[in-house]
Amino acid sequence: MNNSENLHSKRRIYEKSQLIESEIKETPIEQFRDWFLDAENAPEVSEANAMAISTVEKDGCPRTRMVLLKSYNGEGFIFYTNYDSRKGKSIENTHQACLNFFWPSLERQIIIKAHVEKIAEHLSDGYFHSRPKGSQLGAVVSPQSQEIPNRDFLENKLKDLEKEYENKDVPRPENWGGYIAKPYEMEFWQGRPNRLHDRVLYTLEDHIDWKISRLAP
Ligand SMILES: Cc1cc2nc3c(=O)[nH]c(=O)nc-3n(C[C@H](O)[C@H](O)[C@H](O)COP(=O)(O)O)c2cc1C
Repeated sequence: MNNSENLHSKRRIYEKSQLIESEIKETPIEQFRDWFLDAENAPEVSEANAMAISTVEKDGCPRTRMVLLKSYNGEGFIFYTNYDSRKGKSIENTHQACLNFFWPSLERQIIIKAHVEKIAEHLSDGYFHSRPKGSQLGAVVSPQSQEIPNRDFLENKLKDLEKEYENKDVPRPENWGGYIAKPYEMEFWQGRPNRLHDRVLYTLEDHIDWKISRLAP
């Protein structure tokens, strides 16, 4: 093979843990909390709250990018972004997303299918104003996902805004805020030996009950 790398023999044995019915939680949020705490407490996991989020675009193709989970509760998973970004436009169009957490050292993956909606404005305000001023200005400066002429465009805009807001609070841009992804399916994947991994799927039924099933690896 010319100029291509063969990865056929790259193989890892997964043997750190297991996910069996007698040990799993009744609801996926409780199960998520258990695994998320494990990830947060694992020193080798640098950003336990980094997740991939896929949204489907108008051409029918999904687009996946990373964002940071900023809070979660019984209702869902909250992240912040620019509402006019590519993901923002997809979400406004479909109100759907798929989230993925992968913590390689724990040999764990979680896949979440969710309905997505904007959070209340006062919650976005609260989070925006809790961020360092530099991050607040960054959100104002960046027309996320739009084409810009060059790097200087951002740097110059930042300098201007730094002056403008030197002694003033930065208002949250209307097009920047939080989304909550409300799950209706959550799959927990635990690597196991011989590729016989554990896959436990929680499916929301009648908007209230979580049905638990096992999927073949
Ligand atoms: C680890 C990591 C965390 C990120 N967190 C966020 C975030 O919380 N919000 C955000 O808007 N972009 C975040 N980004 C940038 C996005 O991946 C992406 O480039 C940006 O949101 C524009 O995506 P879009 O054009 O598909 O909407 C993050 C990137 C990485 C690699």
